[in-house]
Formats: sequence, C-alpha cells, structure tokens
Amino acid sequence: MLEYLIEIVKHRWSLEACVRAVRFDEYGGPDVLEVREADDPVMAPDRVLVRVRAAAVNPGENFIRNGAAAAMWSTTFPSGQGSDLSGEVVAVGREVDGFEVGMPVLGWTDERASHAELVAVPADHLVAKPESLSWEVAGSMYIAPMAAFASVRAVAPRPGEVVAVSAAAGGVGSVAVQLLRRAGATVIGLAGPDNHDWLKAQGAVPVEYGDGQTDRIRQAADGRLDAFVDTFGGGYVELALDLGVQPDRINTIIDIAAVRAHGVGFNGSAEAANTTDLDAMVRLVADGAVEIPIARTYPLDGVREAYEELNARHTHGKIVLLP
Ligand SMILES: NC(=O)c1ccc[n+]([C@@H]2O[C@H](COP(=O)([O-])OP(=O)(O)OC[C@H]3O[C@@H](n4cnc5c(N)ncnc54)[C@H](OP(=O)(O)O)[C@@H]3O)[C@@H](O)[C@H]2O)c1
Repeated sequence: MLEYLIEIVKHRWSLEACVRAVRFDEYGGPDVLEVREADDPVMAPDRVLVRVRAAAVNPGENFIRNGAAAAMWSTTFPSGQGSDLSGEVVAVGREVDGFEVGMPVLGWTDERASHAELVAVPADHLVAKPESLSWEVAGSMYIAPMAAFASVRAVAPRPGEVVAVSAAAGGVGSVAVQLLRRAGATVIGLAGPDNHDWLKAQGAVPVEYGDGQTDRIRQAADGRLDAFVDTFGGGYVELALDLGVQPDRINTIIDIAAVRAHGVGFNGSAEAANTTDLDAMVRLVADGAVEIPIARTYPLDGVREAYEELNARHTHGKIVLLP
C-alpha cells in the first residue's frame, strides 16, 4: 500500500496537477458529462495502476448514462464511465505477477472508470500491449472486438458458408466481418454506400441496408444463408429468421427482446471477458490479420463531442479518447 501511495504522489507530481476523470451527477445525454478532478482510483493487492493513454467510447455507455439500463446496472453518483483502456503501468499490487512499472498494457475495467488519466485494474483484466499496436487501437480492444469475437464463435462459421452481418462497418461489425472471412465464410455486410469499398477490400459482399434490404440480401446470398451476426438490433433477428436462418445460427449483441422471443444467441463482450480470448484477438491485430479502424480521436475534454459523433450511428470502427 505504501508503494501505491508513493506512485500516486509521483504521478501527481509528474502531471503537476490532479487526476482528471469523466464524471456525471445525473442521468442524461452527453451534456451531463464533465471532466474534473476525481478521487484517486481504489488500489488493491491484486490490482495494477495504469496511466491511461487511450480509452474507446462505446454505445452501451449511453444506456447506462441515460438511465435506460438502470434496472440492470444501477448507478451511484457521481459516476465515471469507460471500459476499454490502454496505458502504462505506474504501480503494481503486491499479489500481482507479470507486470512491472513502465510496461505498456491494454485491457478493460468493469467499474466504469477508464475515461480518466489513472485507473486501478485487476491484473486479470490486462495483457501486455504489443509494440505494433498504437495506443488508440490498444485502447479499443475489449468491448467491440471481443463482442465480435464472441458473436462469431457463437455462430460457428464453417468454410464456404454464407453469413450476413448487420452494421458491418461499425465498431463490432467491422471486426466480425474480418473474423468471419478468416473462418472461410462468404460474408454479406449490411452498410451504407460510404462503407462498401472498405467491405469489398475485406473480401465481403456489401449490401445497402434500408427499404428492400431483405430482397437484396436474398439476392446476394443466392439461395443460401447459413448464419447471421446482428450488431444493430431493430428487427435483424426476425429478418434472418424470415430468410431461413436457424435460431442457433443467429447471434445478436443488442436485441434482448428477440433473444427472449426466438431463443437466438446473445453472446457479447462479457462472453469473452478473459485474457485468453483477449490475447488471441490482440495477436490477430498485432500480426496484421485483423484491422481495428480508428474513426477519430478526441482529448478527454472532448468526451461530449465524442459521444455526439458516436450517437449519429455512422462510425466506421472506433472513436477513442486520449486522456
Ligand atoms: N452485448 C455486447 O457485448 C455489446 C458490445 C458492443 C456493442 N454492443 C451494442 O451493439 C450495437 C453496435 O455497437 P457498435 O459499437 O458496433 O456501434 P457503432 O459502431 O456505433 O455502429 C455504427 C454502425 O451502424 C450502422 N448503421 C446505422 N444505421 C443502420 C441500420 N439501420 N442498419 C444497419 N446498420 C446501420 C452504420 O453503418 P453506416 O455508417 O454504413 O451507415 C455504422 O457502421 C450497439 O447497440 C451497442 O450498444 C453490445
């Protein structure tokens, strides 16, 4: 504990300022978000203190912040936010092996705390950051890529199968498309026209969403659609069922009503919240086998603008805060 306090003091000294973090005091839109001096992160013997370099923003945080998910994730105020993170280790709890001060790491916190300069993370939520990953890619590796990882694992694609992905160029969809291609599937990617070239470059077949999309998917699938990865909600599960996909070959990460109604899969980042799966995903990105597109970065003070851009729902890849 003494070493931890010394590191906090050293950190504050090096910043010549307090530890700043995103906070909100009431449910609402992005305008309730503030960046301000916060309490020091709660350290423990099994934790690693990380100076955050990058932390992605994710749509799920909207549902917590605006109160829509209050029954599932109750909030006490002031609340922080943010799951994904990358950064440098500044202190190591006495029970932790394998991490040392100065080491670049990436991972996640379950405590809505990564949109901050400093965060204390259980060591089993962190892996080493490969040098080839930029801070912003490393700080985007958990929520979206691991939801894609779990979704693709759930639909178990086989070489030669045809699989459709909704929101195929978004944070989750862009990774799902690449993982499905690696598994040897023919991938139909639903996206706006601006993203069709990127999908073609991944070897996917782009199809525009909107009126008439069922017929367009049917045509692109040419009589065979084996599985569906829904990363958008709003009726894609029913669309997949109408196109003849079996419920056990459909996974949604957002449409809980469809999961209850049809018994389709509901596998997301929580189903891949372990360092074995995270390491496997990180290796694919480090080897250049999977790309994590970075749409834009913002300083921590740009957190409201970051969410406003995200909420327009046309992000290709990830928006990342750089605290
Ligand atoms: N369960 C989990 O573990 C988990 C994890 C991560 C995310 N989620 C949830 O999954 C959803 C997607 O997350 P994300 O980070 O991928 O979101 P995102 O990056 O914000 O998704 C943006 C994408 O949505 C596309 N889009 C917009 N309107 C569409 C429509 N009507 N049909 C199909 N695509 C449309 C856009 O396509 P164009 O730009 O091409 O128009 C854009 O590429 C969110 O609701 C999020 O809360 C769940």
